[in-house]
Amino acid sequence: MFAVPANTVALTAAPTAVHPARIAAEVARARHRWAHLLRYDPTERYSALVESTGEVEIWLLSWLPGQHTDLHDHAGSAGAFTVVSGVLTERVIRSLTEVEHPVTVGQTRVFGPRYVHQVRNAGADPAVSIHVYRPERAGMTPYHFDPKTGLSPVD
Ligand SMILES: [Fe+2]
Repeated sequence: MFAVPANTVALTAAPTAVHPARIAAEVARARHRWAHLLRYDPTERYSALVESTGEVEIWLLSWLPGQHTDLHDHAGSAGAFTVVSGVLTERVIRSLTEVEHPVTVGQTRVFGPRYVHQVRNAGADPAVSIHVYRPERAGMTPYHFDPKTGLSPVD
């Protein structure tokens, strides 16, 4: 026998929900789940809903070179995205700091509620990515960033 430390936390009986990053990576590998939805739109970034479970929403996005999102958050949703092909660049703003992360094939980026980012295809080839939102996507708030004053919502 052994003593249980005073700060031990008992596990809950309910199984922990699968992390959005794991879902994104698994769906990215499972091409049969989204290949029939894939299109490229020269006029705007293309998106298609792959699955909505009531807990998570899974989206397929395609990005021709130069296509991008605006700077935004996903309100109260957390999530993740995995790159299937091409290279995406994620620009993340936190307070007065901005950082760019290249995201290559098989890599996953994770985000929490109120996380502000912008994603673009800065590469020479089309890109495809799988995005997971939990709870289901509550909407996006667009932001403007000024390095001196920080983030402000776009009216
Ligand atoms: Fe986003």
